Amino acid sequence: AQAWQGLIHAYRSYLPVSETTPIITLHEGNTPLIPVPRIAAAIGRGVKVYVKYDGLNPTGSFKDRGMTMAISKAKEAGAKAVICASTGNTSAAAAAYARRGGLRAYVLIPEGYVAQGKLAQALLYGAEVLAIQGNFDRALEIVREMAETYPITLVNSVNPYRLEGQKTAAFEVVDALGDAPDWLCIPMGNAGNITAYWMGFCQYHEQNKGTRLPRMMGFQAAGSAPLVTGEICQHPETIATAIRIGNPANWQRALAVRAASQGDFQAVTDSEILVAYRMLAGEEGIFCEPASAASVAGLLKNQAQIPSGATIVCVLTGNGLKDPDTALQQETTQFHRNVVPELANVAEIMGF
Ligand code: F0G
Repeated sequence: AQAWQGLIHAYRSYLPVSETTPIITLHEGNTPLIPVPRIAAAIGRGVKVYVKYDGLNPTGSFKDRGMTMAISKAKEAGAKAVICASTGNTSAAAAAYARRGGLRAYVLIPEGYVAQGKLAQALLYGAEVLAIQGNFDRALEIVREMAETYPITLVNSVNPYRLEGQKTAAFEVVDALGDAPDWLCIPMGNAGNITAYWMGFCQYHEQNKGTRLPRMMGFQAAGSAPLVTGEICQHPETIATAIRIGNPANWQRALAVRAASQGDFQAVTDSEILVAYRMLAGEEGIFCEPASAASVAGLLKNQAQIPSGATIVCVLTGNGLKDPDTALQQETTQFHRNVVPELANVAEIMGF
């Protein structure tokens, strides 16, 4: 087989690109679908659980799928600069792909609420970073107006090419399993990704790739759950800063996905998110960021409703390395500090 050259190359016939579109790629996509047998065993009844580990993309999140498309199309249209609001991952991906394509990237982030790894990336990739005294929702309002007023392309998930790129994750899931899962569990912030997955499952289904469509199970953090309550959340709060969003950009689309898939939207608390986060790392060896663990937290919360023998995919949207601070704050881990450097002492601590 030929080496992987990125998702536009792999799924070209399903994407709005032509021979003349410049392809800006970091060879994103083709991420592993990993079984999580201990989580499956905790549920029991022959349920099969997999995680789609999209934290293994080049900048460490699923945003790369959307950004290879958005930046390629911006470049094709002659854009010189792109702009986005971000809780962190979009800014890292926009910065990386913009630089790769020779474009400038401008990003607005909520001051104090972006994980360290994401900020470090945006800065090193050479983006112009503006931390605003306000939350993500305010930042999105500003960048929308910027893009309407000035010659700069918006690359948030209201850009249709973002979702086109992101839908390829659903193709990969079906390609790996041979069919769609019974349930897809996914975290929701702006609800772009759940919309993109559904587009991908439907498109493959129409092409007779797979026989079924999944129930789309979307999970939000309890302190930031407008799609669950049905009302804009004025002051969203959650440890999962990636999904700290009170007024999702893809609200109506998300409701349509829920209806069409007979899915459900629910809230998970920060402590439920952290239990799943630690379980993934500590029992399965998979390090994701807190927002990503909302998908597994949601699954665990719904275990009684899962049909026996069902196949479930949980989307892990971002890499755990993005947010080292949250990892280091977990007090369930053991860290022996100031150890006297003597063999006998080391052996004793280790229990030999
Ligand atoms: N998981 C992670 C790690 C994210 O970064 C995001 C969104 C989501 C889930 C939710 O995806 O918005 O499509 O429902 N992050 C955006 C950003 C808001 O700016 O990086 P969604």
